[in-house]
Amino acid sequence: MRILHFSDPHVQLPRWRERPLRDFGPLRALATVELWKGRGRDYDGALATLRQIVRDADTLRADLVVCTGDLTQLAMEEEFALAQDALAPLGERLVCIPGNHDRYPLALEPNRLFEKYFPPRPLPDGFAALDSCGEVCWPVITQGRIVDAQLGQDFGGKIVLVHHAPFRAGGVPDWPWHRLRGARKLLEATGAAAAILCGHIHERFQHGNVICAGSSTLRDDEGYWLIEVAPGRAARATSIRPGAPTMDARAAGPRA
Ligand SMILES: [Fe+2]
Ligand SMILES: [Fe+2]
Repeated sequence: MRILHFSDPHVQLPRWRERPLRDFGPLRALATVELWKGRGRDYDGALATLRQIVRDADTLRADLVVCTGDLTQLAMEEEFALAQDALAPLGERLVCIPGNHDRYPLALEPNRLFEKYFPPRPLPDGFAALDSCGEVCWPVITQGRIVDAQLGQDFGGKIVLVHHAPFRAGGVPDWPWHRLRGARKLLEATGAAAAILCGHIHERFQHGNVICAGSSTLRDDEGYWLIEVAPGRAARATSIRPGAPTMDARAAGPRA
């Protein structure tokens, strides 16, 4: 099976610079400080890059396309609608979980926009998903949490999806800013997993069975993983830049 894994596309409002702050609501007005500090510029091309990744999925004949969260920048309905439109050509091949940015509350209540635009579907066989975000995430506070109750299952040989990476590149603990509480227990429980696919930390790396896609649409660091999985074997991952699938990747074998 061939999986294209990307993460953190952070689709944002077009022309956000021209939008009055009242369009964002008080909570998101606070979060727009980050856009003005440079983040907004870094993601001006995010939607176009996301559409390119979707085209690459066909070029590479990916059986499944996995996104490990942060589809949006501010969990605005317009952002979800744009992300949904870009991903629509994938149809049933898309497997997607929310990230903390998709869980910003609306009027201090949990927002269900992720579910509205990406209605939950059963995971493919051999996949497991863990929720590191919970129902509500606050702008600027980026830590995640895995509660013990989620770890009482057999992850052996499975592809595990989780938004928050359990460590940084090289296995370095990610403390304190993006920290995932419960990371150690997660790693213990998933030691025999075929792969742990994650994002949140905007660095693309593979370390052991952890494959972090970083932010696939981040300006000058665009990229995703093409992962070949065979029963009983370690997953083999190749990093690819959107729009430039290599001949090697295309020739990586027949579609399963
Ligand atoms: Fe992110
Ligand atoms: Fe995140």
